Amino acid sequence: MAIERTFSMIKPDATRRNLTGKIVDRLESAGLRVVAQKRIRITRAQAEAFYGVHRERPFFGELVETMTAGPVVVQVLEGENAILKNREVMGATDPSKAEPGTIRKDFAVSIGENSAHGSDGPDTAKQEIAFFFSESEITG
Ligand code: CDP
Ligand code: MG
Repeated sequence: MAIERTFSMIKPDATRRNLTGKIVDRLESAGLRVVAQKRIRITRAQAEAFYGVHRERPFFGELVETMTAGPVVVQVLEGENAILKNREVMGATDPSKAEPGTIRKDFAVSIGENSAHGSDGPDTAKQEIAFFFSESEITG
């Protein structure tokens, strides 16, 4: 199995409720290594660009509002099969459909405020890492 990197973000609903450590624990316990991390406020323009693929969806406006409502923690995770593993640890987008023991099942407020983001494939992982981090900020 190849070592992969993926992009992860702890969303404002989770930082607001002081859940950063609990979420990082879930990721690390699954064998993922945090090789870069910073807590930042993202701008409206950054949120709109980051979620640009969803621009025409009815939830886009609310998504941009919630993503800019407070700080986020952006991360690069590394490990075997990291992209899929991170998606498994996060659980389904809709917390009511997420498996027990997943981040979204245990911590999400709603489908919109669902506590965590994770890249959905190798191409988006690469793009999303580069959106927030320079190579010199990532240390394996
Ligand atoms: O985050 P994930 O890849 O699981 O889901 P997505 O389909 O790429 O949607 C991105 C984000 O938009 C979700 O994580 C939710 O925060 C939000 N969303 C929403 O508010 N309502 C929906 N029906 C679908 C997604
Ligand atoms: Mg997605």
